Amino acid sequence: MNTSASEPIDSNITSGENKSFWTASTKPIIFEKLKQNIETDILIVGGGIAGLTTAYCLLKAGRKVILVEDGYIGSGETGRTTAHITCALDDRYFELERIFGKEKAMLAANSHMEAIQFIANTVKHENIDCNFKRVPGYLFLSGSDKKETLEKEYAATKSAGLLTEMLEQVPGLEAENGKWCIKFPEQGQFHIMKYLRGLADAITGMGGKIYTETKAEDITKEGAKANGYDIKAKHIVVATNTPINDLVTMHTKQWPYRTYVIAAKVPKGKLAYSLWWDTGDHDSKWIAAPYHYVRLEEYDNQYDLLISGGEDHKTGQADDENILEENRYEKLIEWTKKRFPAMQEVTYKWSGQVMEPIDCMAFLGRNPGSNNIYIITGDSGNGMTHGTLGGIILTDIITGNKNPWEDFYSPSRITLKTTGDYLHEAGNMVVQYADWITKGDVKDADELKPGQGGIISSGINKIAAYRDEQNNLHICTAVCPHLGAILQWNAEEKSFDCPAHGSRFTTVGKVINGPASTDLKRIQVKEENKI
Ligand SMILES: Cc1cc2nc3c(=O)[nH]c(=O)nc-3n(C[C@H](O)[C@H](O)[C@H](O)COP(=O)(O)OP(=O)(O)OC[C@H]3O[C@@H](n4cnc5c(N)ncnc54)[C@H](O)[C@@H]3O)c2cc1C
Ligand code: FES
Repeated sequence: MNTSASEPIDSNITSGENKSFWTASTKPIIFEKLKQNIETDILIVGGGIAGLTTAYCLLKAGRKVILVEDGYIGSGETGRTTAHITCALDDRYFELERIFGKEKAMLAANSHMEAIQFIANTVKHENIDCNFKRVPGYLFLSGSDKKETLEKEYAATKSAGLLTEMLEQVPGLEAENGKWCIKFPEQGQFHIMKYLRGLADAITGMGGKIYTETKAEDITKEGAKANGYDIKAKHIVVATNTPINDLVTMHTKQWPYRTYVIAAKVPKGKLAYSLWWDTGDHDSKWIAAPYHYVRLEEYDNQYDLLISGGEDHKTGQADDENILEENRYEKLIEWTKKRFPAMQEVTYKWSGQVMEPIDCMAFLGRNPGSNNIYIITGDSGNGMTHGTLGGIILTDIITGNKNPWEDFYSPSRITLKTTGDYLHEAGNMVVQYADWITKGDVKDADELKPGQGGIISSGINKIAAYRDEQNNLHICTAVCPHLGAILQWNAEEKSFDCPAHGSRFTTVGKVINGPASTDLKRIQVKEENKI
């Protein structure tokens, strides 16, 4: 038996087996690898929208910047987004008012509108060809919700200073599903990978250095190591979606959710470019009340793509609802067809991970306990705007300018009220450790067909096993190197996912998402010695 590593997921390009429309329709954005010791003012770790925006803003402020990305640019969650650029925050403004009060709900609205404007200005200023459009967004009632929710939200958006309107009919939706919505004017949308390409060009054009296939490790206040070389820096920004330098603080303030997307052809002109969201499934077992999010994107001369997302569950816990990952796409297609019957063939499907913060808002600022290490995390499904705001706020902090949103988004903030039920979410994390004493999902490695993986119990040991298309068995420990929860097999994206705090690993155990920062331990076994 051969247990040599082969990589079914090219994790340099994307973090799952399924490719998004964005990554499939553009060339990978690749720079040279770091091959020497180096010194800079600011080291940025992570080449998604948060890292690139931070690099762009700091360079514009005259700072010397190096950005390192362990895959290629956009290979994390940014390449798997649906790229609604919006101030229609999915946790609702009436919830923000309850948690933070009216004044801070205004800060939330105002900062997100500014983030949309920042993207619009950047596209114009840098001449980025990324299909950016200003579009309206419509928040409509889900089947499990009542009109009072919209009325409450409408009042809260108004008092937060947004120019929303209540409409009796939802533009673009089939009539029977389309009664009442809130219209959010002047939202945005773009092709995210084209936007990242434009930002990367602007960064290098201003003298910034980007290194890809360069993984930062051992982050300290002096800098980091990457590919075996030292990077010395005065400031370090960790824009890795989930902080990789965090053992205790941040992962108890946010929860990872997996969310699904399909993209289907729609004849051009049938629907107007817009964003649509429903108010979420209030019968769901998940505190985040998963909702559907839909938009159009340019495809070819004949068709647009209708991109529809939803059917979320906590990472690594799809089977808790008895709905497997693959069946979630079927549910999504059914939901979308009912509301948008003009949709035709489904051409893409993919899934990704979002982080749901304890009080709805992202964490953008100094890493708790550090002076010169900063984080951007807790996207809350609004990572286009939150990632952009991260870049703006961190630049002000580093350059010594007062930023009006700094305290509101501070990772050290203490919020006395939380969204949903904190104890329930914290308890859900603890319950994941019960998998230590339950059976694996596969009896032994013989059950695995080529392309299949699973968790096997071997005495008290748990093993993450994957049989590749060439019939080679790859075996690692199924114990997450972060804090020891047992991983789950994700059959759709072919990865091992941690149900506790969202770390993910390829079929051969390479880490693709933090907070874990190291790979799974590989186990060498002869296949005839059954496990
Ligand atoms: C399916 C889906 C739909 C979404 N839809 C929307 C939407 O419509 N609107 C919206 O606003 N938001 C949306 N989001 C959320 C949004 O896409 C994300 O929050 C955002 O892209 C995250 O950007 P980021 O830069 O923080 O992280 P990432 O894009 O994940 O970037 C982090 C990068 O860090 C790199 N990295 C990690 N560790 C290291 C290391 N040690 N060294 C070097 N590099 C490292 C990773 O490879 C990765 O590329 C969606 C998310 C998903 C999954
Ligand atoms: S991510 Fe924390 S235990 Fe796995």
